[in-house]
Amino acid sequence: MSRLFSALALGPLTLPNRIVIAPMCQYSASDGHAGSWHAMHYGQLAQSGAGLLIVEATAVQPAGRISWADVGLWDEACADAWQPVLAGIRQWSTMPLGIQLAHAGRKASCHRPWDGGAQLAAGDARGWTTLAPSALPFASEDLPPQAMDEAAIDQLIADFAAAAQRAQALGFELIEIHAAHGYLLHQFLSPLSNTRSDRWGGSLDNRMALLLAVFDAVKAAVAPSMAVGVRISATDWVEGGWDLAQSIALARVLDARGCHFIHVSSGGLDGRQQIPVGPGYQLPLAQAIKAEVEMPVIAVGLITEPTHAEAVVATGQADAVGIARGILYNPRWPWHAAAALGVKVPVSPQYRRCEPLAQRGLFA
Ligand SMILES: Cc1cc2nc3c(=O)[nH]c(=O)nc-3n(C[C@H](O)[C@H](O)[C@H](O)COP(=O)(O)O)c2cc1C
Repeated sequence: MSRLFSALALGPLTLPNRIVIAPMCQYSASDGHAGSWHAMHYGQLAQSGAGLLIVEATAVQPAGRISWADVGLWDEACADAWQPVLAGIRQWSTMPLGIQLAHAGRKASCHRPWDGGAQLAAGDARGWTTLAPSALPFASEDLPPQAMDEAAIDQLIADFAAAAQRAQALGFELIEIHAAHGYLLHQFLSPLSNTRSDRWGGSLDNRMALLLAVFDAVKAAVAPSMAVGVRISATDWVEGGWDLAQSIALARVLDARGCHFIHVSSGGLDGRQQIPVGPGYQLPLAQAIKAEVEMPVIAVGLITEPTHAEAVVATGQADAVGIARGILYNPRWPWHAAAALGVKVPVSPQYRRCEPLAQRGLFA
């Protein structure tokens, strides 16, 4: 019996298996609107046999986009653009669908990664002034961000809630709040980027306050049938920054507040980070958090082999595994994993003629 291919409840949402397609920005939107790339990309991922597809970081404000080409959900026009993408997927797939809601904070207003990824120069008409807890740039060559005042913080919380409602109306079944990778909510958590002395900075409780306010507002904005969880960077990998002990404290508070899952990544806040990259390099972080909470934990980061993914969940290091680059490279990764583990996954009838050859081991 494969544990990877057993069901998992994330609060009200039951996944058919424990393979999670991690959110991946596509930088292919126009004015925040999803389009034909998203229909093609998510359409084929929805045929992969994974247990959950989490759509990329989707900005709750125009200023929350990493690049000018990011998708958004800040108004009804953005929602209208997502609608045919979702309808197309739903016509052909029952895969649970989630969306990551995000604000990039000081790491916004950038070129697309394949254009270098640097921040747009002052005066570039596609750019904007970025927001942050404190007026500290991410990279020394970046323009200083604007420290958010109370009105900006109130607006941010309201915009996360409104985007969550739009996601629900579109038929998404899960919301992942992006508090990882050095983006705005992570910037508030880390003492390296948050030097505020008001109620949103200083003590650990104060630095966690914005994420918790966003979490509470999102939960209150959606039906109880919507799964709501959080993605964190469990450490900045920099001395004096956000670390595992603080992440465990945060995870406990989220757990007590009814968070349905936590997705454990790391890094992205500070260029001085020293990340010990290797197979499963973030697993010890997920495992340490799992030991302290009731809610399911999703591990992610260079989990590429089916037998490794199976071992991660079978030994209880995490409840589910996130796969990102591996499924870009091989969008049928879950089919291969199922074959390797002696399990059958549902295959759409249009694709079933490959099955006899797969059973003869021709595609191993
Ligand atoms: C093209 C690309 C885009 C990404 N975009 C996001 C994103 O929108 N939100 C996020 O939290 N992480 C994002 N990530 C990080 C992945 O979700 C994942 O955590 C990371 O790639 C490690 O997993 P992997 O080793 O399976 O690729 C992105 C990664 C890639 C490769």
